Amino acid sequence: MIIFYICPAKDLNMQHKIISLDEHIIQSQRNLPYATGELSSLLRDIGLAAKIVSREVNKAGLVDIAGKAETENSSGDDVQKLDVLANDLLISCLRNSGECCGIASEEEDSYKPIKNSYKQAKYVVLFDPLDGSSNIDVNVSIGTIFAIYRRNSFQGDCTLDDFLQKGTDQVAAGYVLYGSSTMLVYTTKQGVNGFTLDPSIGEFCLSHPNIQVPKTGKVYSVNQANYNKYPKGSQAYINHCMEQGYTMRYIGSMVADVHRTLIKGGIFFYPGTTNKPNGKLRLLYECNPLALLVEEAGGKASNGQERILELSPTELHQRTPVFMGSEEMVNDLERLVKEFDA
Ligand code: AHG
Ligand code: MN
Ligand code: MN
Repeated sequence: MIIFYICPAKDLNMQHKIISLDEHIIQSQRNLPYATGELSSLLRDIGLAAKIVSREVNKAGLVDIAGKAETENSSGDDVQKLDVLANDLLISCLRNSGECCGIASEEEDSYKPIKNSYKQAKYVVLFDPLDGSSNIDVNVSIGTIFAIYRRNSFQGDCTLDDFLQKGTDQVAAGYVLYGSSTMLVYTTKQGVNGFTLDPSIGEFCLSHPNIQVPKTGKVYSVNQANYNKYPKGSQAYINHCMEQGYTMRYIGSMVADVHRTLIKGGIFFYPGTTNKPNGKLRLLYECNPLALLVEEAGGKASNGQERILELSPTELHQRTPVFMGSEEMVNDLERLVKEFDA
């Protein structure tokens, strides 16, 4: 069958070639001499899941899927229906992928091995299926965050240790931001690239090549209402930001706050508090993948004393204080933590 595509004249005059996510993944794979195509295939499957979740998020106000599912996740937070849906969609795409031998999700109590009858898959995927879930009902940006590791067990079902790897061991990480447009930003440790979903053709198109975090910035992003519960070093840093005349932006979806920080510079942080000394954000599902992106883009990510990516996880749902963004701002913060919280 011959399919004719009638091309609008302006498309024929295109000055710039459009690079789709799939094409970009394949091109990047060519730079890795021993790549087998399995990671590329896995990333493409995550891209597909992202499009499906994006479709559901966009129609959330139209059909009865928004709102609470009347359950709590294993970390004790309210779970919205869309969280459950995004979680199920990601799991089923990864199950069908054939390249993933197990998943761990913020919405699941434990990891889930995935059995493939025809091959031994190499990778495990950890994700926060819907980040910023308190913003679902109010049409504010939310996201999906993912981290990919090579399994370190040799055969059979994956094990807990396959998931408890340091952030430095990630082979790829990324996020999808469901904002004014849907974007997918990912790294395979060869820089950070951002793609915007063109809904008319259903493709993620390269829109933000080689993202670099500015070395410094003027925006700080923190839930300042918790000021009195923060350790002295974080309080001193907030005072410093105010004295410098920086501006504050806080969306309350980590993925959206970190996205702005990647593009415009600044610092995003969630310190420990008196009632939660390790803060709220999860090392494996949120902090490690976003820290890898920030570092790959030339920024810095710390728990106040050491690199987020160097922390040794001991449990799946572990939380950590986190400070990430423009290198000079994170350095200033670390100096104050050393001075006040030693
Ligand atoms: P999630 O919706 O996946 O549970 O994550 C919410 C997180 C994160 O996105 C955001 O930075 C933070 O919660 C906001 O917390 P506060 O409301 O305590 O500031
Ligand atoms: Mn989250
Ligand atoms: Mn979540």
